Amino acid sequence: MMEQILRNFFLFLSKNKFFTKLARRYGLRFGAGRFVAGETIPNAVNTIQKLNGQGMSVTIDHLGEFIDTEKEAREAADECIEAVKAIAEHKLDSQLSLKLTSMGLDISYELALENMKRILQVAEEKDVFITIDMEDFERCQKTIKLFKELRTEYNNIGTVIQSYLYRAVEDIEDLNQYNPNLRLVKGAYKESPKVAFPDKKDVDENYKKIIKMHLLNGNYTAVATHDDAMIEYTLKVVQEHNIPLDQFEFQMLYGIRVERQEELVKEGYKMRVYVPYGTDWYGYFMRRLAERPANVAFVLKGVVGK
Ligand code: FDA
Repeated sequence: MMEQILRNFFLFLSKNKFFTKLARRYGLRFGAGRFVAGETIPNAVNTIQKLNGQGMSVTIDHLGEFIDTEKEAREAADECIEAVKAIAEHKLDSQLSLKLTSMGLDISYELALENMKRILQVAEEKDVFITIDMEDFERCQKTIKLFKELRTEYNNIGTVIQSYLYRAVEDIEDLNQYNPNLRLVKGAYKESPKVAFPDKKDVDENYKKIIKMHLLNGNYTAVATHDDAMIEYTLKVVQEHNIPLDQFEFQMLYGIRVERQEELVKEGYKMRVYVPYGTDWYGYFMRRLAERPANVAFVLKGVVGK
């Protein structure tokens, strides 16, 4: 009960424009450094180099969620292009993840498409893979549509499917025609029971279902979870169906279950760490707290300890 209240509270804070602006302005860093690599590309490069040195691959994400103007959306795309260039320049084992709202999706589909094409052009030249994160249900259909449009032109593009949505299985089936490289997640937003399973048990079962479907379809599968039960399930399917090691990977968020990340690398699996950076760390940070209110205790300890 208390956990649910905290979860809703942090999700509310994550979406609140006033608090976002306040955090941006006054740089309320609290314990965000545990989950965010820093505010600039050189900060991110530093973190990627460390993770690569430990045998981990990375996907970096420039944090920036609320975009009000075309200019801001173009600037966010420019930032992604700079990040892609930095990945190539420093020869990093890193992909890039981004959100379509920061590319201007809420302003217009065409603007987001144009910004994506600009990024993909450079990313293709530099051989950097781009994943479109999946946001809330309201944007899901537009995201899938835009992904399909880009996928017909570019190979270096993937997106995300969330198992809490009833539509997930259908999306996996539908997208199979594109042989897509997909990241599979449980889903991080607060959704209505009209569109998403309200019970965790059902979300987990659907997660297993889509992992198996996508692997058996022969597509590259990124299993992005911190849940041992889902990792074990993936390995069971992989063993039973002789799925090659280069057809799947595990992904976890920066700063979460670091020892498990290291173990998976030692066991010989590909492990990719999602490393966010940027000045707009606030919404991301609040979602991490909402996911696991136990993290609050950790953060408070960090703040009090400083
Ligand atoms: P879940 O939260 O169900 O927890 C299951 C178990 O995992 C816990 O009981 C515990 O044992 C363990 N666990 C989880 N968190 C832990 C922690 N902090 N410390 C220790 N143990 C922990 N979502 C989205 O909607 N769109 C997206 O694009 C993405 N992208 C994305 C990328 C990557 C790389 C990851 C890892 C996740 C996402 N997500 C996401 C978030 C995702 O949807 C989901 O909200 C979180 O991963 C939490 O769900 P889990 O599957 O990790 O386990």
